[in-house]
Amino acid sequence: MNPTLVSRLRRDVSFTGEHLDVAGRAVELRTLTPGQGAALKLLADGDHDDAELAVAVTALDGESGLLRWHMLLRGLNASGLVEHAVREGGRTGEVGEIRQIRQIIARLRLVGRGATLLAPAPAGPARLSRFAEARIVDGMPTLQAPGRHLAVELAPRAAGLIGELAAWSTGVPAPVLRLLATAGLLAPGGPQEDVETTERSHAQWHPGDLAFHARTRTPASASGYGGTHPLGDRFPPEPVSPAPAGTRTVALPVPDLERIAAADPSFTEVLERRRSIRAHDMDAPITLDQLGELLYRSLRRRGTMTGGDGQELADRPYPSGGAVHELEVYPLVTACEGVPAGLWHYATDRHELELVAEPDKATAALVSEARGAAMLEADPQVVLLVAARFGRVMWKYETVAYPLVLKHVGVLYQTLYLVATAMNLAVCGLGGGDTAAFATASGRDPLLEGTVGELVLGSRPRMEG
Ligand SMILES: Cc1cc2nc3c(=O)[nH]c(=O)nc-3n(C[C@H](O)[C@H](O)[C@H](O)COP(=O)(O)O)c2cc1C
Repeated sequence: MNPTLVSRLRRDVSFTGEHLDVAGRAVELRTLTPGQGAALKLLADGDHDDAELAVAVTALDGESGLLRWHMLLRGLNASGLVEHAVREGGRTGEVGEIRQIRQIIARLRLVGRGATLLAPAPAGPARLSRFAEARIVDGMPTLQAPGRHLAVELAPRAAGLIGELAAWSTGVPAPVLRLLATAGLLAPGGPQEDVETTERSHAQWHPGDLAFHARTRTPASASGYGGTHPLGDRFPPEPVSPAPAGTRTVALPVPDLERIAAADPSFTEVLERRRSIRAHDMDAPITLDQLGELLYRSLRRRGTMTGGDGQELADRPYPSGGAVHELEVYPLVTACEGVPAGLWHYATDRHELELVAEPDKATAALVSEARGAAMLEADPQVVLLVAARFGRVMWKYETVAYPLVLKHVGVLYQTLYLVATAMNLAVCGLGGGDTAAFATASGRDPLLEGTVGELVLGSRPRMEG
């Protein structure tokens, strides 16, 4: 078997004989020589190696046509219009009926935007980057490095290359290494200088975090930036109001915003006074009125609209990308005057609490985790569990969907912090939580709705005032 580099035009590029058609858009080429036209036709029809293309060019243009062909090919690669692959050739069969076989074992695929110019193979041993991600795409094992616009698709029979390149190796053919190097899949350095573990810039990143960061912050590496509605034709949008949580509800008093505005400390005073407070007044717990006022001022639904795409949108006091407002708040009450203990859901449109679960082992686990995270001496009076209805965001957005959720958690945290400060309540945001524990306590499907943030809340201890 003799691995050879071959090329073809991208699947979404066709050649009319005069110009290229790229995903329905005409790309004009300067006047083509007969040899260039013949070679482009070969590239449009399938995979060919340099020698096969050179024969087509020289047959019509002579040897002198090769330089101009290479310049044209370079331009096509710079525009990302070419796909490179490694073909194995060989013979198979019994004497007398020997057949020539040609199989593609690896292919460089454009998955974002950018050039397809091939990089050289490394001179010494090679290893896959520890950031390389392997996924099954369209039934093929596919490797991609964070932030790169190219991926390498392996034929299933060539997937053993991943094992071979798990450690520094000299056993992989150069054409395959060239594809991997072009896609940024090879580790920098060498066996004596493993940059990915010695340099802080590389060592500090977990592969999952870097893949997430790169996918969501490098539009050239992944298609799907902005409101692309990836599920628009398969699922209806989720309604702005979640299904009612249960039959037991507690109505919350509607606060008088005019009276509050007249009595509130100034905005600057609130900002300057804001602190994370990790203790609650156990003798005088937070009240139903206070909890209701905090929720009302921070996240009640002020209005409902319908977007141009047909999705119901909401207006709340804090901002939300596309006004999608996927966040739901679940007050987990241990001690709140006027609200029985348990896991409640705040209905932003009806301004009421709906009981999701009576206190049990699962809710106790959530309380104790929040207590530990905030280093509280006693159970927090209330844990505000912030959950995301992922489908609201993911119906509309692709690469920015999950980052938007996290940004929304941030703006909601700050809004709750500021309103709680103005109300003289004790609040402290938490940096981590357990979405599986929330799923157990709430019965929610964690893939549809899961916790993405939490804060502890209570009455402010008197000595803090
Ligand atoms: C996103 C976020 C996560 C936090 N996580 C925790 C936490 O898990 N435990 C905790 O005790 N405090 C947590 N805090 C509070 C910070 O420790 C606190 O904001 C910081 O020490 C500054 O103090 P200040 O809020 O009083 O200005 C968090 C704050 C934020 C904004």
